[in-house]
Formats: sequence, C-alpha cells, structure tokens
Amino acid sequence: MATLYPEQLIGRQVGPYALERVIGQGGFAWVFSAKRADQGTAALKVLKPRYAGDRQFESRFRNESRVASELTHRNIVRILDVGQADDITYFAMDLYPDSLRSRIDRDGPLAEPDLVRIAMDVAAALSFAHANGVIHRDIKADNILFEKDGTGVVTDFGIMRAVSGYVSDTGVNMTIGTPSYMSPEQAQGRTLDGRSDLYALGVTLYKAATGDLPFTSTDWFELARMHVEDAPTPPRSRGSTISRRFELVILKCLAKHPDDRYASADEFLAELQALSDESRTTETFGRVDPRLQAAAAADARAAAGRHLSGTWLAVIGVLVVAAVAAAVVLLAR
Ligand SMILES: Nc1ncnc2c1ncn2[C@@H]1O[C@H](COP(=O)(O)OP(=O)(O)OP(=O)(O)O)[C@@H](O)[C@H]1O
Ligand SMILES: [Mg+2]
Repeated sequence: MATLYPEQLIGRQVGPYALERVIGQGGFAWVFSAKRADQGTAALKVLKPRYAGDRQFESRFRNESRVASELTHRNIVRILDVGQADDITYFAMDLYPDSLRSRIDRDGPLAEPDLVRIAMDVAAALSFAHANGVIHRDIKADNILFEKDGTGVVTDFGIMRAVSGYVSDTGVNMTIGTPSYMSPEQAQGRTLDGRSDLYALGVTLYKAATGDLPFTSTDWFELARMHVEDAPTPPRSRGSTISRRFELVILKCLAKHPDDRYASADEFLAELQALSDESRTTETFGRVDPRLQAAAAADARAAAGRHLSGTWLAVIGVLVVAAVAAAVVLLAR
C-alpha cells in the first residue's frame, strides 16, 4: 500500500526511533514525535514519500541536515542524527513543546518585551550560523520553536538550500512553499547573504506583532512582486501596540534593498539590546512604584519642614541680634 498520509507511519520503527504521533507537515516533510528506547522522546523530520526515492534529492537533504547538525548553539535546534532506514530519509532532533506559529495562532499578537526577547534569540542564532557560512533561507514563525523556559530556538537551518531550485530527474521543480517570508532578492532569484534572513525575520516579527503578514495574495507571482515593490503598512497602523522605535526596527529589516537593512545579525542584535536596555530603564525610573512615590512625598514634606524651621530660626536669630543691639544702644545712653 502506498503511503499517502503521515498517520500511516505511526507505530513504524525508523532506525532506532518508534514513530508515535504526527506533529505537523511542511512542503516536503512530515514531523513526528518519536521514542528512542535508550534516549527518551525526539522529533523526526521525514521526507514525504513523493520526494523520497529520488537519490540525488535524498542526498542533498541529508547533506544539508549534516551541515545543520554541526551548528551547536543555545538558540539552534539540536540535530541528533541524520539517517536512512529502508525507504525513509530522516533526521532526528530535540522535541520542543511550542512554536512561534502555534503561539500566534493561540494567543494572537505578542507584547513588545516578548517580541524583543524572541528577536534577540533568533538574531543570536543567525549571527552564529552566518559566521559559520550558513544562511537559513527559510526563517518563519513555524521554524522558531520554544524550550520549556521560553528560550527561542531556530530549526531547519539551510534545509531550504537542498530544496529550492532543485529540479528532479522527472522534471519536478522542488521549489516549494509560498513566498510569504521571501526577501525581494530571494523572490528575484538573486544571490543571497545573511541580510536576506534579516528580511524574513522582519516578516516574522511583523506577523508576531500584528497577527498578519505584511503582504498576502493567493497568487505566487503577485506576492513575490509585492515583496519586491510595495511598502509594508507600518505595524502600528494595523493595530499593533509596539513602540514607534520597535516599529522602525521591524521596518528597517523589511527594507527592499539589503544595504538599507541592518548590515549584519550582530548589528541588529546590538540595536535590540539598546532597545531592551532603554525600556528596562523606563520601567525602573519612568513608572514609579506607588510605595516609592509615598515615601518620596513624605521625604519632601520632611525636607520642606526642615527648610521652614530653618528659615524661622534665621528670622528669630536676626530679631534676637537686633533686640540685643537695641538694648546695648539704649543702655549706652
Ligand atoms: N523539533 C521540533 N519540535 C517540535 N515541533 C517541531 C519540530 N520541528 C518541526 N516542528 C513543527 O512541525 C511542523 C512541520 O515542520 P516542517 O519543518 O516540516 O514544516 P514547516 O517548517 O512548516 O514548512 P517547510 O519546512 O515546508 O518550510 C511545524 O509546525 C513545526 O513548527
Ligand atoms: Mg520547518
């Protein structure tokens, strides 16, 4: 029986992993939670059967997965192994309890402190990957996962490279997905550098801040054109409560020309750090705790009292000196 649905693989043993539950699917793979007898639960990304079987594609997928598995960083998903078991091409990774995509679907737009923190986690991952010569190419809300403590981790580093532009022996173009997060240069098939990931991160933050993508169309080419030509509506004009300063940060990521964006993930990270420090300062000094306010008012009253009595003492002192002087003058007569 041909495998058409991921559910058909539940219970199947893939190398050392027993597939337990379908987590989701993208353009070319299914993701399962799986049990490994000696190591607990993992997530398995399995090529869909229609893409498996093409030896060249399978090996591109495995190669990119191996490159990704060498990126060891606290904000990058840990790949446990890359394998082939019978007809199944897969890689195993840590299993995460939540994703940015699920969070937006569940709770709607996120508040600014959360957005800034997530953006910093992703920027740190990008900075590390770019320094190691890997461009992500597919930054989007589905590829940002969360640890139990909320730390953001990025998955699918470089995997898109195995897929995009590849035309199989049978003539099927493997370029998959919508260009919802695609940078203008990506939509135009130009050479990419790390700044393309910053654009896609800008789209991701825009979606997380407003609940919507900056550009939508059911027509692939129209959507690509919008990314190349149209100015995005500023997030605050679409109901986002983020500050004007953070809005400008997102819009800078969304600049059409890479030269008008942040020059690197590090420069972007430094801007986020400054923004986060500034809002923490405002939190501490701008919004005053009522207890502190009461204490400050009492201090001010006491100081005023001290000032008042000081003034009276001075007046009395002058009067006494004047009286003594007058008495001395009178007696002298
Ligand atoms: N390690 C993981 N732990 C938990 N959930 C995961 C993990 N890896 C992927 N997922 C989730 O599984 C779903 C499918 O992932 P997949 O990478 O196949 O598709 P995608 O990222 O949505 O799109 P595409 O890869 O086609 O661009 C996504 O919703 C993703 O958030
Ligand atoms: Mg993915």
